[in-house]
Amino acid sequence: MTNERAQFGMAGELDHRAAGGRRLKDKVCVVTGAGQGIGRATAKRLGAEGGTIVVADRVDEGATQTLSELHGGGVEAIKALADVGTLDGAKNLMQQAVAAYGRIDVLVNNVGGTIWIKPFHLYTEEEVKLELERSLHTTLWCCLAVLPVMMKQQSGSIVNIGSQSTRGLYRLPYATSKGGILAMTKVLAMEYGRYNIRINAMAPGGTEISDRVVPRQFIRAGVTVDEPAAEAEYRREMAEDIRNQQALRRRGLPEEQAAAIAFLASDDSSFITGQVINCSGGQS
Ligand SMILES: NC(=O)c1ccc[n+]([C@@H]2O[C@H](COP(=O)([O-])OP(=O)(O)OC[C@H]3O[C@@H](n4cnc5c(N)ncnc54)[C@H](O)[C@@H]3O)[C@@H](O)[C@H]2O)c1
Repeated sequence: MTNERAQFGMAGELDHRAAGGRRLKDKVCVVTGAGQGIGRATAKRLGAEGGTIVVADRVDEGATQTLSELHGGGVEAIKALADVGTLDGAKNLMQQAVAAYGRIDVLVNNVGGTIWIKPFHLYTEEEVKLELERSLHTTLWCCLAVLPVMMKQQSGSIVNIGSQSTRGLYRLPYATSKGGILAMTKVLAMEYGRYNIRINAMAPGGTEISDRVVPRQFIRAGVTVDEPAAEAEYRREMAEDIRNQQALRRRGLPEEQAAAIAFLASDDSSFITGQVINCSGGQS
């Protein structure tokens, strides 16, 4: 290798690292469910990479905490309280983002999570509806609400959050929702690539969340559902099933999920659309 090539190579690498550190510079990023867990870690990662962040959640306490951590790190950010379980709620969120910053470059559809853990025959009709509302409709409505904004801009990157649950135990309505999100990701990519909008998915495996303000069983203000009698046993079996599939033999960290999301959100993935990254320690 010539000296010139070696020098160029090194300079290139340094440039790349410098650019890699600020990949979301000047990008307005809406992160749903940013009040805790993977959503909060994502808001912080995108903010650290130069993004302007809209912290979207329906629970004020978590959203306020995320906002204060972002501001503490010198990140430009606002809080947008919205329940994205309805199309009106999703539209309201996008309106708040556009009113504040005039555009939406990145949307991370992070809201989701199983409410119950139990075999399918034990779910009631109402419970199935609540699971779909949380884990399927939220992403569906946010995509529908953001598309007109991104089509007008002729640009945008949507990152949907999937899950390894699509072939896991005891959370079938949730798994069905996440399977639907993978279909949504592929079809939206085919339909909206012509508007320079990319849609990808990141599918986490079991991830350790230590900052929960809102428990899994929280449905809406004042409503927290009961756990089934045998929940502990179902949980144990489910966790064992997940562990057995993880080559790395450990749970992931929210920051590890955020790193994969940041890649898909950024122009580093500019020629990637309709794809899924499994950030799951080898589950897939
Ligand atoms: N944690 C895991 O092990 C894991 C594994 C696979 C996939 N995932 C997926 O990753 C995503 C984040 O998971 P998490 O464990 O960090 O979530 P979490 O339950 O800890 O946090 C979800 C956040 O979303 C908010 N939220 C819920 N419903 C909302 C609504 N209708 N409108 C607005 N905000 C709402 C909650 O208030 C909460 O702040 C989810 O899509 C989940 O399915 C998580």
